[in-house]
Amino acid sequence: MSDNELPVGGLTRRSLGGLGVAAILAPSIASARRMPGPDRYRPQVHYSPAKGFMNDPNGLIFHEGEYHLFYQHNPFEAKAGHVHWGHAVSSDLVRWRELPIALGETAAGQAFSGSAVYDRGNTSGLFPSGAGGLVAIYTRASDTKQAQEIATSTDRGRTFSGYPGNPVLDVGSASFRDPKVLWHAPTRRWVMVVVRSREHRVMFYASSDLKHWSEVGSFGHAGLLGIDYECPDLVEVPVEGGGTRWVLFVSINPGAPLGGSAVQYFVGTFDGRRFEAEDGATRLADFGQDFYALQTFADVDGPPVAIAWMSNWLYSNDVPASPSRGAMTLPRRLTLRRHADDWRLVQTPVPLDPIAGSSILSGPRPKRTGTLAGAAVPYGAALEVVLRFEADPGAILSVRLRNAAGEMLSACFDAGTYPGFVVDRSGTRGFRHRYMVDRAIWSAPQGTTTTDMRLIVDRSSIELIGMGGEASGTMLQYFASPPDRLEVIAEGGAVALMQLEVRSLNG
Ligand code: FRU
Repeated sequence: MSDNELPVGGLTRRSLGGLGVAAILAPSIASARRMPGPDRYRPQVHYSPAKGFMNDPNGLIFHEGEYHLFYQHNPFEAKAGHVHWGHAVSSDLVRWRELPIALGETAAGQAFSGSAVYDRGNTSGLFPSGAGGLVAIYTRASDTKQAQEIATSTDRGRTFSGYPGNPVLDVGSASFRDPKVLWHAPTRRWVMVVVRSREHRVMFYASSDLKHWSEVGSFGHAGLLGIDYECPDLVEVPVEGGGTRWVLFVSINPGAPLGGSAVQYFVGTFDGRRFEAEDGATRLADFGQDFYALQTFADVDGPPVAIAWMSNWLYSNDVPASPSRGAMTLPRRLTLRRHADDWRLVQTPVPLDPIAGSSILSGPRPKRTGTLAGAAVPYGAALEVVLRFEADPGAILSVRLRNAAGEMLSACFDAGTYPGFVVDRSGTRGFRHRYMVDRAIWSAPQGTTTTDMRLIVDRSSIELIGMGGEASGTMLQYFASPPDRLEVIAEGGAVALMQLEVRSLNG
């Protein structure tokens, strides 16, 4: 049943047949609109497949005017397993079109995570002479072996043919996976970043033809180890104010600080063989509980663009299926910001103008305490909230989404002794799980009182981007009844809003 077939006293519009639909609907339409359908948690502005299960983003690449999002996908049921590569394309990174499955299971195993490159110069020799094509590099995984395979496409990723010489990299291990391949221009060769997951080592291999790989270096036993290192990525990121650094992302699962899955990153240099971290710090890419397996797009101009899977293995198989299970974050541009003794990854969600809906609140608000702004929100809509503010020391600025049943989701900036952002999903009652934390907290430098916060709230998620992109907090959230009101509130001190924009987003 879709939103157009809302239940009316146990009947659907379709089943009302010739009964004089308008007459029957008229008295009950208000209450019918409030009755959530089975797809009430279906993301409106985040990618989720039509059916089945989805986890990691794979093979992200911009090619011939299309952004490709491949992903770990079980097409048979909304549970992890039988992993294929699903596929979607977009011209603007916000509106996606699902395409047929790109890679399937074979006798050798499932199609685990990996990446895609454009073999522009036909270095592989696998394309018709004079032409290049897309190459997917992924892990073929059985219970006893994980080895790296490649597959080629000459039709813009619509279909792939497995290379007859597969696997191209097999070290006889059952925990060796998730190859991310990049073209390393200074050494003019391909580099594969792949993990020996149980040994907590990121391995670097080099190749001139994508078919023969030799080990050139490794990085590891670094940062948070968790049980497995997974889904590494290595990308050169511009530093605000000039220069670049290489950022090595390593996902870990389980064993994250909030439990389960998390993405950490290291900032350093890479010479085509060795990654050298600039300091001994481990940094998390997101302070929420539902941000995993981040991957960057190949072949985008300007700062890299990344997508992560918006879930956590501790409960990803249990959250409501809507009708599929699993969603991606919004794509975010990545830059680096240097602080006195620190590096910060800065994440900026791509512009949402192509899906802008109607304005719900806007304009500055003078400094005071209490309710600074409030408005009704459209039924089931995704929302974007943008705030720039100045708080008195000790004040807490909250954005609250609520409903008449007393449920609440909030995102706050606390300008107290330990300032920072908080995402609080404790007041939602649509789905609880013993391992889902209620709140996630990010600490800002002491004395911070003036900053910004951007929220993207979809039917089953909230993304908080704060402090000019330094704070990223991504959490799943499930209201039992959809929220119908949004409020911006200052407590414990006065807050001025220099900017307030709330708009709905079209799914
Ligand atoms: C990470 C992961 C990868 C693996 C894939 C299987 O979420 O466990 O290491 O390739 O999922 O779907």
